[in-house]
Amino acid sequence: MSPVRAVVTGGCGFVGSHLVERLVERGDEVTVFDTGPMPSDVPHAVRDQVRPVVGDIRDAAAVRSAVRPGTDVVFHLAAVVGVDQYLARPLDVIDINLTGTRHVLEAAARAGARPVVASTSEVFGKNPSVPWPEDGDRVLGPTTADRWTYSSSKALAEHMTFAFSRAHGLGATVVRYFNVYGARQRPAYVISRSVHRVLNGLPPLVYDGGRQTRAFTHVSDCVEGTVMAAESRRSADQAFNIGSMQETTVGEAVRLVVDLAGAGVRAVPVDTGDQLGPAYEDLRRRVPDTRKAREVLGWTCRTALRDGLRQTVDWARGRPEYLALPDSGAGG
Ligand SMILES: NC(=O)c1ccc[n+]([C@@H]2O[C@H](COP(=O)([O-])OP(=O)(O)OC[C@H]3O[C@@H](n4cnc5c(N)ncnc54)[C@H](O)[C@@H]3O)[C@@H](O)[C@H]2O)c1
Repeated sequence: MSPVRAVVTGGCGFVGSHLVERLVERGDEVTVFDTGPMPSDVPHAVRDQVRPVVGDIRDAAAVRSAVRPGTDVVFHLAAVVGVDQYLARPLDVIDINLTGTRHVLEAAARAGARPVVASTSEVFGKNPSVPWPEDGDRVLGPTTADRWTYSSSKALAEHMTFAFSRAHGLGATVVRYFNVYGARQRPAYVISRSVHRVLNGLPPLVYDGGRQTRAFTHVSDCVEGTVMAAESRRSADQAFNIGSMQETTVGEAVRLVVDLAGAGVRAVPVDTGDQLGPAYEDLRRRVPDTRKAREVLGWTCRTALRDGLRQTVDWARGRPEYLALPDSGAGG
């Protein structure tokens, strides 16, 4: 495949930085649009190849300056992410996820680029009928609970993407990620927080008995699905679930982390109703149906949970600066 001119919004974040590495390593010309700096462990050989544009996605002119004419694809990952953030910054969640997506779509249309927009399993809310196919129903809680701002803003961003894409012939694609984990993820999610706590000698926290299930997806698989969605001719104007089909309880995932870290600690149970209040609502099961990604994109999740967790623990163990970060609260 010939080199691609790509823009990655949110390219300094967890998934975005891994995506940028993958694109640079295969010889693409990559612009990174983000408010923040690249993570310090992104190799110099990668960061030296990147054109950084520092800016806020809510600034349309700044987004246009990143998405120049001749851009082939815009990977739009910039967003406010994490349950702690939905509860603390609900207005920013809505504004950045919606206004930002609008600016990316407009800039892509102007530049003749194809948008690939990162969305989330959260759009399905608490639909009890798992596994969820791409056209599964959305089942949400009340608008008085800030917890649903992320799901709603991401779903509206999807609607905007499809409507805009059809109106302007952009061939946009939406990729819905399911519980991504791996190196560089801030310690605010069940895997990263458990790894961080255990390596700091603290017991991991297990919410509400740990029997809720997730489809933990290693970041390398997530990146591969995203790249394959951008390459496919058949993915235009469609959404794809990018997630593991291995349904795992949170309790089991935390036990694996403890085991791999070689720590003899016992998890501490947390009652989210008591600790986080009624705005927090945990989901019992979250499992994708990924047949469409397999059939249309040729993508499957390849990393076994144990292998992915081992890589994540090994990465974190050697990084005192990561272990010194504060552990940032709720989130699955
Ligand atoms: N990590 C997951 O498990 C997961 C699951 C589902 C969906 N997603 C989606 O994947 C994408 C990447 O998530 P992540 O986990 O890498 O999150 P992250 O928080 O690590 O990365 C988000 C990036 O967006 C940037 N950003 C935030 N606000 C911005 C703004 N106003 N202007 C410009 N840049 C801004 C941040 O600086 C950060 O680098 C997001 O769109 C998210 O909704 C992630």
